[in-house]
Amino acid sequence: MQPQPIESKSGSYIRDQEKQRLLDFSQFLSKTRTLKIGNGLGHLSESIRPMTQELTILDIQTYPKTINSNRVQIYSGYPIPYPDKTFDTTIIVFTLHHIPKNRQYFKEILRVTKRRVIIFEETYDNVFQKIHLFMRDWWVNRDAGQSTNLYWNSYFSRKEIRELIKRTGLKEVFTFTKPHKSYFKELFVLDIN
Ligand SMILES: C[S@@+](CC[C@H](N)C(=O)[O-])C[C@H]1O[C@@H](n2cnc3c(N)ncnc32)[C@H](O)[C@@H]1O
Repeated sequence: MQPQPIESKSGSYIRDQEKQRLLDFSQFLSKTRTLKIGNGLGHLSESIRPMTQELTILDIQTYPKTINSNRVQIYSGYPIPYPDKTFDTTIIVFTLHHIPKNRQYFKEILRVTKRRVIIFEETYDNVFQKIHLFMRDWWVNRDAGQSTNLYWNSYFSRKEIRELIKRTGLKEVFTFTKPHKSYFKELFVLDIN
């Protein structure tokens, strides 16, 4: 048996957080064709796998500690390499803020999705919360062994993410906002009309 890499404090923190996030949205998954955008170290993706019929995972990279590298489809980051309405459900968890020009990317998500989009994002109300969120995101991901690019303009305020959703005309099935540290964790379950 291969020795397992030692998990950092941030690594086990992310794993615990992901278990909680899955409980938050698992009831909204369906046994159909699912796309997961962003894989991180793969724990959340692999917990989702038994809950759906077919899971496609897209990321721009894997890491030495990724547990499911052979199951991740690596692509350039834009566009999403699938035809219109390929997936019944698309899930994107704490990944939108790692994508440059993510308002444009959001249109891609809608293009490839037939029925439902599940989004988890970390949001803020003011610039102090944004700075805290940005710096903590950088540190936690680095410590966990999943460093990836951060884009200041890709973080959403609570107001901006709601405006984006409103513009698309998606139907809100379920949402919640949980205060976390100085900022927020928000879930949006959205149906395509
Ligand atoms: C910090 S991790 C969060 C993953 C999340 N906790 C999960 O497992 O659902 C963000 C991931 O998004 C990936 N990423 C960045 N840009 C991307 C893009 N354009 N498409 C898909 N994944 C992307 C990064 O490589 C990284 O693995």
